[in-house]
Amino acid sequence: MNKHWSIIEQHASVLRDTHLKELFIEDANRIDACSRTLLFAFVDFSRQRINRQLLSELCTFAREIRIQEHFNEMMNGAKVNATEQRSVLHTALRAPKGKSIVIDGNDVIEDVHQVLDRMKAFSDSIRSGVNRGYSGKQFTDIVNIGIGGSDLGPNMVCDALKFYSRRDLAIHFVSNIDPTHLTETLRTCSPETTLFIISSKTFTTEETMANAMAAKAWFFSHGGTSWELHACAVSANLEKTREFGILPEHVFGFWDWVGGRYSVWSAIGLSIAISLGFDHFEAFLAGAHSMDNHMSETKEEDNIPLLLGLIDVLNSMSYDIRSQAIIPYDEYLRMFPAFLQQMIMESNGKSISIDGHELAHHTSPIIWGLPGTDAQHSFFQLLHQGTEKVNTEFIVCARSLNPVDDLHERLLANCAAQSAALMHGKTTQEVAQDLSFSYLGNEDKKALIPHKVFSGDRPSTTIMLKELTPFTLGWLIALYEHRTFVQGYVWDICSYDQWGVELGKVLAKKILPAVKDPSEINNVDDSSIGQFLISMHKFRS
Ligand code: F6P
Repeated sequence: MNKHWSIIEQHASVLRDTHLKELFIEDANRIDACSRTLLFAFVDFSRQRINRQLLSELCTFAREIRIQEHFNEMMNGAKVNATEQRSVLHTALRAPKGKSIVIDGNDVIEDVHQVLDRMKAFSDSIRSGVNRGYSGKQFTDIVNIGIGGSDLGPNMVCDALKFYSRRDLAIHFVSNIDPTHLTETLRTCSPETTLFIISSKTFTTEETMANAMAAKAWFFSHGGTSWELHACAVSANLEKTREFGILPEHVFGFWDWVGGRYSVWSAIGLSIAISLGFDHFEAFLAGAHSMDNHMSETKEEDNIPLLLGLIDVLNSMSYDIRSQAIIPYDEYLRMFPAFLQQMIMESNGKSISIDGHELAHHTSPIIWGLPGTDAQHSFFQLLHQGTEKVNTEFIVCARSLNPVDDLHERLLANCAAQSAALMHGKTTQEVAQDLSFSYLGNEDKKALIPHKVFSGDRPSTTIMLKELTPFTLGWLIALYEHRTFVQGYVWDICSYDQWGVELGKVLAKKILPAVKDPSEINNVDDSSIGQFLISMHKFRS
């Protein structure tokens, strides 16, 4: 861990035993010091275990270790993906025309806009009906086949921005190699009016390629002809897309400097452009670009992803809080926790430093969550009274896109109440006072008191957007991307590789012959798998 962190540690140790509500008493204007307001967003980290002094130390630390400079180096093409010797340039995917970043003699911004222009023409042609299926009918169903970053981003965004979508164009996502996913998806589709987008950076991912082949077989077995009219691909592997029978004009490229979990801004977002229209896709990119500028230019004290990233590190390193619940109080954002799971845990779930040494500190928090208010009736019991320390993140929109009676006001009230309850808790005296009005006898009251006490002192952050729009969603996603960058940089890890997903994939390939044919079981040299295979063959026979 960076040596400057020890100063932070000293300040944090002073606060470790201070109840969060005392911090509000100590500093009457705490909310001003610990929140930031923009035109369309309010970010409140006043319920985190920090005070003005610690905040200022965190900013000094950020300057000393050059976080912002390192971010700007990354934005300019530095090969920060050290283990793969690659630049990390998802920020270039949302940079406006006219900017320039030259990598190996090539202006990547020009390349990006060439693909964006083609995406615009293609998505317009699908939406307007210029491009149609083999029988001349307009497309009604778009099926994106991809997994990981080639699924989670566009899937989440299409869902989150459904309000802005064309309702006569259904967008489906198939990711799982479980045949149920494809079968259930295609049940309502007709080959005449279905367009497949095969999304895979490598075009070799087992799940995606197996599902793509099964989809092609379904297409022909259900009377489809002219596959080339019904298939397009998003990939960096043009040779493989050609082999799969996809017309070059239906292939949308991206580059090795776009990581899968950061690829929603690239042609991987084609389904978004088709569903929402290209204007909305551009607004989505513009929102992310405004966050890029914020991260790149705003001084540490007001730099939202930088501050939130450092608070994440603080929770893990100094307060032993390594579980982070993401609770969007917005039904449109129900897939946001799953999307962040890949972004944050695939990026920062590492235990080796960038130069190859075993780390002596913890890294990525465990990310999980569900939308509020549903989550309140599920696991909030643990958040309020459990033994596990959790950092809770509330995401909410001030305005509803679908106002009905006072439902949205009730949603907002619940969101505010939960973060306050997590912080304040409820003391023994308060519980006793409540129970004094109860009909219970004194002994029963006494027995009940400890069960009704809330310790409080449980940290949370609230991010409030004015409204969920393509622009604000782009801004919000980029905020988490940069926060993830800050964490990884402080932890001294390579946030942009994912070697940890390889081992299981290789093993699955080796085991497949024995899953298909019991006579192959003896060739599986791992006895822990043997009984699984024997039982499986017995149940399948
Ligand atoms: O799970 C590993 C991973 O490489 C992810 O990082 C990526 O998003 C996903 O697989 C899909 O990869 P591809 O787009 O190459 O099919």
